[in-house]
Amino acid sequence: MDNTKQHYRIFATCDIGKEAFEILRAHGYEVEVFDRPEPPPKSLIVEKVRSGVDALITTLRDRIDAEVFAAGNGRLKVVAQYAVGFDNINRADANRHKVPFTNTPDVLTEATAEFALFMLGNVARRMCPAEHLVRDNRWGMWHPYLPFLGREVTGATIGVIGTGRIGKAFLKKAVSLDSDFLCCAGGALDHDFAAKIQETMDVRFKNGFSPDHHTIRYASLEEVLRGSDFVSLHVPLIREGDGRIPTYHLINEKTLRIMRPTAYLINTSRGPVVDERALVAALKAGWIAGAALDVYEQEPLPADSPLRDPELENRVRLFPHFASAGLVTRLSTDPHKGMAGRCVQSVIDVLEGRYGGNPAQMPFVVNKEAFR
Ligand code: GLV
Ligand code: GLV
Repeated sequence: MDNTKQHYRIFATCDIGKEAFEILRAHGYEVEVFDRPEPPPKSLIVEKVRSGVDALITTLRDRIDAEVFAAGNGRLKVVAQYAVGFDNINRADANRHKVPFTNTPDVLTEATAEFALFMLGNVARRMCPAEHLVRDNRWGMWHPYLPFLGREVTGATIGVIGTGRIGKAFLKKAVSLDSDFLCCAGGALDHDFAAKIQETMDVRFKNGFSPDHHTIRYASLEEVLRGSDFVSLHVPLIREGDGRIPTYHLINEKTLRIMRPTAYLINTSRGPVVDERALVAALKAGWIAGAALDVYEQEPLPADSPLRDPELENRVRLFPHFASAGLVTRLSTDPHKGMAGRCVQSVIDVLEGRYGGNPAQMPFVVNKEAFR
């Protein structure tokens, strides 16, 4: 260990993999890990920070706000969030205390996008109920349409709401399904990207890979909801008053009523983007056909959630906030491949004063505005 170096302490609110912590320890840092599957109580995070930690590694499960930053009292140098989303971190509080916080974008884009697509296929083709027929020995016979049929995705219209990193990755993969795309970008139109998707579709048609010629276009939210057989959500959670276009309860009674009765809703973004009470009502009343959800208004999903209603079981797929849960995506220590690697790298960037010690220049710092 280099004794001229400052002695830095790191507290991680969960285990992000042994190898990731080894990298930090190899830098001479003292690393303490809350080594239990559940998150630590907020009071413990505050206590640790108050006792003097230089870096905090957090997850979506930890509420990081003024109380935590104040406890940092000038010593806390970085909050490194192990997620791309950071709606658990109060940005204004971080900025007031001049603490940079980081996230892990890009490395989970492909895993999340592929999972959204697989969820879509799963609910559309009724894979879970179909497997249960076999497992429960209720298969009985092969029959043209009994006991049920699924909906083909090929040739359907897929609506993509939110066309940032993950929405775009979803589109790139979904091109292979020879569907039409309607995209709602919330202002951030990327015509160059849409043109490239169109070009890919043109080539597929020209080469005879695709029986029909398909198209992609940007449209209003209403048009996307009205015209799509599948609607996949890829927006961040933005609450009212944040300054940007809010996405809280973007899918609500009004917007669900616009959707087709044969349509499916896919959510891998954030639970509160969907008003769950309205969704359950929509599913029961048949305003939409089904839903596949990976995120919920309250996580873990409460035992008494109406989404668990057995009446909805065949049409509703429920996953445990699992879209980025691929082995490489979660645990690789390569900052270009894994969330662990990217998280650890952002701690190192700040503590070692990389990029001239300027957080505004550091690639994974979210709140750059506080350091300009
Ligand atoms: C997962 O939900 C993430 O934000 O990384
Ligand atoms: C189905 O298995 C078929 O042969 O059509």
